Amino acid sequence: MRYRILGSTGLRVSVVGIGTWQFGGEWGREYSQPDVDAILDQGRDSGINLIDTAECYGDHLSESRIGDYLSRHDRSHWIVATKFGHHFNGFMSRDDRFSAADVLAQLEGSLRALRVDRVDLYQFHSGSDALFQDAALWEMLAAQQRAGKIGHLGISILGKGSEWQARQAREVGAEALQVIYNRLDRRPEQLYFSHAQRDQLGILARVPLASGLLSGKYSPGTKFPVTEVRGSFDADKVDRDLAEVERIRRTEVPAGIPMAQWALAWCLKSPLVSAVIPGCKDADQVRSNAAAAELVPGD
Ligand SMILES: NC(=O)c1ccc[n+]([C@@H]2O[C@H](COP(=O)([O-])OP(=O)(O)OC[C@H]3O[C@@H](n4cnc5c(N)ncnc54)[C@H](OP(=O)(O)O)[C@@H]3O)[C@@H](O)[C@H]2O)c1
Repeated sequence: MRYRILGSTGLRVSVVGIGTWQFGGEWGREYSQPDVDAILDQGRDSGINLIDTAECYGDHLSESRIGDYLSRHDRSHWIVATKFGHHFNGFMSRDDRFSAADVLAQLEGSLRALRVDRVDLYQFHSGSDALFQDAALWEMLAAQQRAGKIGHLGISILGKGSEWQARQAREVGAEALQVIYNRLDRRPEQLYFSHAQRDQLGILARVPLASGLLSGKYSPGTKFPVTEVRGSFDADKVDRDLAEVERIRRTEVPAGIPMAQWALAWCLKSPLVSAVIPGCKDADQVRSNAAAAELVPGD
């Protein structure tokens, strides 16, 4: 495994982390505690030390599974990142809850679920610019940071993008940006990299496999079931993306290298990207994803 320092946080994160939206049950299967244990055991054995979760991957469900694991293993090995701002109502349904009082209650819920006394990285979860502009929210978070319940603050920027939030990050005390970044979506290079460089913000690349499309195992015409998140994607766009993935596989991926590993290492070409956080379905995917670190040139 390779490690990079996440912006100005001083946190030494493995360049490959584990995204855990999957544990909330919206990716076509339910995760038992033994399923999660196997994934996190493999992560630790592969040198991974970064977990990304959120309040609304199930109603604190993903966090609870991680917390159960952490309560039985070495908590100090892990850098735990979670998020705030939503209430989970059911499959792919959430309400915004970004007021200072709501977020304070969520923080307590996350600490309980994760069974920790501190969240290492607490991220604004893809809220609008209007919700971001709330001095009371950021004052409350700074107070919780002083109280030791939050290590560092981050912003998980909404999917359609917000350069303005990246520009404001330092103002509100954030030290990391989580953005969609992968071989099919290079907008962050223009939108965020210069802010990250200037303000020493660590970048976490989420959806680094383009929701699995960049694994190379799907062909145009693939239909995902409605029981998982990808079943709600625009089918025409998925087809166009898969055609582009085939072109990339033919023209850019060296022979003999699994495309998923290549795609993760591609995101890490810039040292501004501290880590990728691929969602992992099982321990085999964790093992394969961790091996992508070997394709990353030394810093
Ligand atoms: N707003 C936000 O803050 C936000 C939004 C989205 C995601 N996130 C975070 O980012 C993480 C990653 O994003 P994501 O999970 O949406 O997308 P992703 O990482 O691009 O894709 C994950 C999917 O790729 C497939 N996969 C993973 N490793 C593989 C391998 N080695 N070989 C083949 N297939 C592999 C798996 O699906 P199949 O095997 O079923 O194809 C897996 O469910 C999430 O778990 C979450 O922590 C945050």
